[in-house]
This record gives sequence, structure tokens and C-alpha cells, in this order.
Amino acid sequence: MTGLVLKDIRKAYGQVKVLHGIDLEIKEGEFVVFVGPSGCGKSTLLRMIAGLEDITSGEMYIDGQLVNDVPPSKRGIAMVFQSYALYPHMTVYDNMAFGMRIAGENKEEIDRRVKSAADILQLGPYLDRLPKALSGGQRQRVAIGRAICRDPKVFLFDEPLSNLDAALRVATRIEIAKLNEQMADTTMIYVTHDQVEAMTLADRIVVLSAGHIEQVGPPLELYERPANLFVARFIGSPAMNIMPATVTATGDVTKIKLKDGSEVTVDVATPASEQGKAASFGVRPEDLAVATGDDFLFEGKVDIVEALGEVTMVYVQGPVDEESVVVKLPGIVAVKKGEVLRFSADKTKLHLFDAAGQTYRR
Ligand SMILES: Nc1ncnc2c1ncn2[C@@H]1O[C@H](COP(=O)(O)OP(=O)(O)OP(=O)(O)O)[C@@H](O)[C@H]1O
Ligand SMILES: [Mg+2]
Repeated sequence: MTGLVLKDIRKAYGQVKVLHGIDLEIKEGEFVVFVGPSGCGKSTLLRMIAGLEDITSGEMYIDGQLVNDVPPSKRGIAMVFQSYALYPHMTVYDNMAFGMRIAGENKEEIDRRVKSAADILQLGPYLDRLPKALSGGQRQRVAIGRAICRDPKVFLFDEPLSNLDAALRVATRIEIAKLNEQMADTTMIYVTHDQVEAMTLADRIVVLSAGHIEQVGPPLELYERPANLFVARFIGSPAMNIMPATVTATGDVTKIKLKDGSEVTVDVATPASEQGKAASFGVRPEDLAVATGDDFLFEGKVDIVEALGEVTMVYVQGPVDEESVVVKLPGIVAVKKGEVLRFSADKTKLHLFDAAGQTYRR
């Protein structure tokens, strides 16, 4: 049985095209995270799955059933939004029970489901409270609890934690991870701007840009083998350093020349036709280190040092480009502004993209 199938899904508001043909299969019980820049169509896609937006063209199946014309209430879907709209005059218990009462569910079943949701989300002690007597994180948990009570086949989240402070985000993220374990058969689709949420919660991440899918895959696959420059820049924080380069030798490994004249060998194969062509060289901040020997990738002047305790971010003035290169060093490192340093890279973790921004395959 398949959870969800999207076939060439398109969306236009009048003349404005927002989604340009989304093809995606989501397995039953899978946790899929949508990421992408603001305005790329994440919420629109989620709302179309929920049935809150019309599908302009294409086909959507839930559990094998074509749902294009099925109303939201008949799709077996629950959605949790960024802003939790709780009824202020109702207790936590009643907020969670409300939907089931409207649906005419019997009292025992309502009580069983509310207690079970409260149990999962550790809301037991708050069932008699009004929303105003809860913290932001507790309120968002009530909103999630209300959705659990509907016993959905598919659970949709649109940036559910973005209104919470840092500590609450972490705590609630862990609640959602537990929820996902306990509701193993429930398919979950989750929109976020937060890298950590995407990397830790997802079975697969879908990277969207300007209304189309750039890449779909498990988090570490996207991190280690981004399909193109867009995904390379989007996954990982701080973003991958990208430097312009020229291909100087092709074959099983590729030699490139950076703007400062330095030559780098990258362990990817390129066809002879790439000889002399423009390319982009990529290296993640965490794959760079202060060079100990003569073998270094580049030399540069330290511009800014950010000591975060667990890591030290070093911004190096454009060794090969105008943009500064970011280096992420573990722990506390005694590096000073103005110092000229040499940096080496983990050779197995260099990235190379062709002139069109596609990754050369390893
Ligand atoms: N009702 C509407 N009429 C016209 N355009 C709309 C409408 N709703 C959304 N859009 C446009 O569709 C595009 C996608 O919007 P959407 O809300 O899906 O983006 P998003 O990826 O969720 O962004 P964010 O990360 O900021 O939440 C945007 O350019 C937006 O302006
Ligand atoms: Mg949105």
C-alpha cells in the first residue's frame, strides 16, 4: 500500500504559476520534510495535500484513492500550523475533544483518545487548564494533540515550531520525533526552515525551489551528494563554500584551477569534453582545517572569528574570490583577526559542479 502519490501536480493562482509539476511518492509511515526558500511553494503544496487548495492540474492519490475532488474532512488528514489556533475559552481537554464531539464520537472513545494523546505529549497535568495558562510550547503540543485525536492517516506540519524559543524548539522537536515513533504507520509531512529539524526528523528531505523539486533523498545523501549547486548551498549550515574554477585536466580524477592560480585535484570523473570549461568548486566549512604541512588548499587573511564554544567559525578574506570563505573548526581555537593562515581540506569531501550547476558524479 502506498501512502501518497503526487503526479505532475501544478498550481496556478490566475496567471501566476506557483508549482510547476511535482512528482513525488511518499510511503506509508514515512516522515518527509519539505525545505526550500521562502515563497518556493511548500505551504501551497501542503495545503493541496490537505485539500485546502484546489489542484490546478495533475493527480493526487492517498492510499491509492484519487483525492483531487475529495474534501479535506474526507481525506483522513490532520494539519498543524505555525500559529496554533486553540479555542481560548475551552480547557486543554475540551480543545482536544472538540473535533470528535462535533463528529458525534462517543464519550468513552473521546476520553480514551484525549488521554492517549495527552500521554504521548506529556499534557496530562494540564488537561483542565485554559490555553492562556500554558506556555507557547505547551500550547503547540495541545494543537498537535488535537490533531492526534483525529487519528489521521497523514499528519501535516507547517513550520510548527517556528514561533517557539530555541530551548522549546529543541524540546518539542524531540516530542515530535517520539510521536513519529509511536505513530509508526502514520505518514508525516513536515515543512521547516530549520536545518536541524530537517536533518534529524526526516526519512527523506524534499528540496524545493521556485515551484519544482531539486532533489529528494535521505538527509545524509543530500548532504554528502547534492545533485546540484542549489542543493549543495541549501543543505548544511553555514552553507558550502563555492569558488569559481576552470577544468584543466579531465579523466578519472579532475584537475581544476582556482582564481588565485592554485591547482586542485578533485576525486570525480569528467569527460574530455569538459576540458577548459568553467566549473564551481565546493567545500563545506566543516571539511576545512588549519593546514599543518605544506599541503594546503588556500591561504587567506582572517577577517572575523566567531567563538561559539563547541565550534569556532573563521571567515577568511577571499583567497580565490571576493566572497569570504567560512571555516568551521571544532572547539575553541586561538585564531586572531588579521592573521594569515593556510587551510587544507579533507580530500574525500570536495565537490565539483559543471557550468550549469550540476554535480559531476563520483
Ligand atoms: N492566494 C494566493 N494568490 C496568489 N499567489 C499566492 C497565493 N498564495 C500563495 N501565493 C504565492 O505562491 C508562492 C508560494 O507560496 P507558499 O506560501 O507556498 O510559499 P512557502 O514556500 O510556504 O514560503 P514560506 O517559507 O515563506 O512560508 C508565493 O510566491 C506566494 O506569493
Ligand atoms: Mg509557508
